[in-house]
Amino acid sequence: MAALKILVIPGSLRTGSLNAKLAAVAAHRLAQAGTDVTRLSLADFPLPIYDGDLQTKSGVPKNAVDLKRMIGAHHGVLIVTPEYNASVPPLVKNTIDWVSRVADPNESRGQVFRDRAFAIASASRNRLGGARSLAALRLILAACQAFVIPDQLALAFADEAYDEMERLKHPPDIEAMGAMVRQLIDVSQRLM
Ligand SMILES: Cc1cc2nc3c(=O)[nH]c(=O)nc-3n(C[C@H](O)[C@H](O)[C@H](O)COP(=O)(O)O)c2cc1C
Repeated sequence: MAALKILVIPGSLRTGSLNAKLAAVAAHRLAQAGTDVTRLSLADFPLPIYDGDLQTKSGVPKNAVDLKRMIGAHHGVLIVTPEYNASVPPLVKNTIDWVSRVADPNESRGQVFRDRAFAIASASRNRLGGARSLAALRLILAACQAFVIPDQLALAFADEAYDEMERLKHPPDIEAMGAMVRQLIDVSQRLM
């Protein structure tokens, strides 16, 4: 059987991003579990803020189409999002909004969300670990009819969560990451 392909999407472009770091740890863990992992940067897919007039005039931007096709080339997706004002940052929401407008030939709009498993994680310096952004992201993905796995990871005190090798150092975080990775793999395999 072909290797399971998982796409990891960090929801921050910031240098030194806590979420990009968590995405790197997750990608490593997924690779250790035998999956074929791609970790992208949304900096490679810049998009204007969604505007219906822009879409009417120029269509969906190529970067949104490319990103949608990249998602479509994977069996499962992990989104690692920061929390901004108790919700997802505009980068994450805007990216999902544009991708949800892509209509490729021979499939219905939004099918890319319905056909694969999604996992969600967040990292924050505070004790909630971005859990409210996960609640918001789960709702957004549910509106896109994505299957979002129940296990998730909200990494609290994320600036103190790593050892000198950039590995998670606290057992509960390691366990939560392991459970999420296992469940994403299981569900992605079932939907393959
Ligand atoms: C506009 C703004 C709003 C924020 N609101 C929250 C928040 O509601 N909850 C939280 O945990 N952190 C909040 N933060 C702090 C971010 O979690 C922190 O900047 C984090 O490092 C961003 O993720 P990154 O390191 O991956 O870029 C906010 C930051 C910004 C810039």
